[in-house]
Amino acid sequence: MQHKTIDELLKSEKTHVDVIVRGWVRSFRSNRFIALNDGSTIKTLQCVVDFENFDEEILKKTTVGAAIEVAGVLVESQGQGQTVEVQVSKLTVLGEANPEDVKLTILSPKRHSLETLREQAHLRVRTNTFGAVMRTRSKLAFAVHEYFQKNGFNYMHSPIITGSDAEGAGEMFRVTNLDAKNPPLDENGNVDFKEDFFEKETNLTVSGQLEAETYAMALGKVYTFGPTFRAENSNTSRHLAEFWMIEPEVAFNDLDANMDLAEDFIKYVINYALENCADDLEFLENRLLEEEKNKPQDERSEMKLREKLRFILENNFKRVSYTEAIDILKRSKPNQKKKFKYIIEEWGADLQSEHERFLVEKHFKSPVILFDYPAKIKAFYMRLNDDGKTVRAMDVLFPGIGEIVGGSQREERYDVLKQKMEAMDISTEELYWYLDLRKFGTAVHSGFGLGFERLVQFTTGMGNIRDVIPYPRTPGNAEF
Ligand code: 4AD
Ligand code: MG
Repeated sequence: MQHKTIDELLKSEKTHVDVIVRGWVRSFRSNRFIALNDGSTIKTLQCVVDFENFDEEILKKTTVGAAIEVAGVLVESQGQGQTVEVQVSKLTVLGEANPEDVKLTILSPKRHSLETLREQAHLRVRTNTFGAVMRTRSKLAFAVHEYFQKNGFNYMHSPIITGSDAEGAGEMFRVTNLDAKNPPLDENGNVDFKEDFFEKETNLTVSGQLEAETYAMALGKVYTFGPTFRAENSNTSRHLAEFWMIEPEVAFNDLDANMDLAEDFIKYVINYALENCADDLEFLENRLLEEEKNKPQDERSEMKLREKLRFILENNFKRVSYTEAIDILKRSKPNQKKKFKYIIEEWGADLQSEHERFLVEKHFKSPVILFDYPAKIKAFYMRLNDDGKTVRAMDVLFPGIGEIVGGSQREERYDVLKQKMEAMDISTEELYWYLDLRKFGTAVHSGFGLGFERLVQFTTGMGNIRDVIPYPRTPGNAEF
């Protein structure tokens, strides 16, 4: 007989059949009721053993955390809390878990803080919370591919090791195999990267955008979905040094079409999660309600998790220009009463997350797409508007998250781009290939980047980005 996952068994609704199930013991009550979980669902399967008829040694080894196999009959449950259960005829302990050792870990059945769970990231996925988050993460990743594949996009693998700094922000991790203690030097005493593996300076990519643009200018519609790396020293609940980014890039799309794409895409994947992660989202919603009980009334969310997700689906994102946003912020109470950490004085100011959150959570009370930012605070590749001072940039801002998407229409005019690169000290020699696109059949094109972990955070309601990726990399932390 083939063994089945608990999810398959619970969905089959067929009782009085012989089954074999394998999983890890969550609890063992009264020497009779084993709660078994195998990761296929948040639900546990109740396995009932008739202890008089079982070897005492085996029962003793049936402890929390142990891996077991049970064979038996699936029957309707007499007890409350489950519809079916297994009447066990054979119990095998596949892998023991010493209770004394288990006690010292997060596997011990009591409440552990998220901080403690993070320290045992190799075990935390066995908890209900992390099982739910990671299953949802997996479903969301599938939904991303499904959306683009259904809509005629080609999946493009942008390189992970690159010589360019796509964002021009200099927040890169160097890739080298030179001897760090004794590097070869050139005649001026500087490290000689001609001696390095690639015979030049290289780094881990901060974004696949520039390479994706080259593919969009041939295949039309492309997207990347891969790891990206930023050596920014921000210890916040929204930043990782290694995160996954989704970057669609579309030939002939202007900024309006880019906004339509971002909104349609986000709604699709969130709807997919609502339809395909019902049990996990229900669990996470209740977890959040529980967590918020300890917060003062005015800090609790107005909506439950799934209400919040449905709200996204049912409402248009508000599209607001940077200039309008600055006016709103200047006139806002927290600005006038100097409650913001960074007071907005004038047009041109970079928006901090406190400002973004004010716009989304207090003023508009809906997701917002801000567009047409000052050229000075945005990357070199964004298309200059006729006013000469703003660029066709867009950021999608979400409640509780702030910026979830950053994108733009790209500068497609050779001369304008070259001038801008020179003014911003971006090497036109290094990026000759990027300029080439503007020489050979240039066209209007646009794209954006969505931080996958911020999407998972929003969908699961987890407050800290470290809790939505299996092994978070942050300043001072690359454990596991
Ligand atoms: O706004 P960013 O820096 O834009 C780009 O990289 C463009 N090249 C994208 C494009 O147009 N193709 O980053 C895009 C998104 C952000 O909105 C945010 O969601 C996420 O990536 N992000 C991070 N997520 C986690 N940790 C970090 N350190 C992040 N930095 C950016
Ligand atoms: Mg950005």
